[in-house]
Amino acid sequence: GAPVVVNLSAIPAGTMVTAEWQGKPVWILHRTPEMIAGLKKMDDFLADPNSDRPGFTPEFAKNPYRSRKEQWLICVGICTHLGCSPSPRFAVGGAEGMPANWGGGFLCPCHGSQFDLAGRVLKNQPAPDNLLVPPYYFVDDNTVMVG
Ligand code: FES
Repeated sequence: GAPVVVNLSAIPAGTMVTAEWQGKPVWILHRTPEMIAGLKKMDDFLADPNSDRPGFTPEFAKNPYRSRKEQWLICVGICTHLGCSPSPRFAVGGAEGMPANWGGGFLCPCHGSQFDLAGRVLKNQPAPDNLLVPPYYFVDDNTVMVG
């Protein structure tokens, strides 16, 4: 499929847009400094904090942010369990059913899998893996090309 170009200047910090690439939803989340800081507290809650499992994380995203730039999360919004699309839960500092130091993330409506703001799956969830990070690169500071 053709690459998809996304204008980042239209995405304020703390919000996300969903683009479509190869028929799949691709999230582009502009993380705030608080969201970025929260990722560092998540390791103990995650099934694969360093994204070591093969197939879901390109080399460029094998870092605590799972991205090329820490403020931008770009991942395929399809649950690695049975393919539903998780919903954003951006309440920082505590959310029902989430860890005490929850920094916000995503919740799958189908069987309850939870993911953090880097698309990393929490421990003991139906979903076995982190969300897929697609190939992408930054054309310039305000433009990303997915695919
Ligand atoms: Fe997401 Fe089952 S499809 S938890």
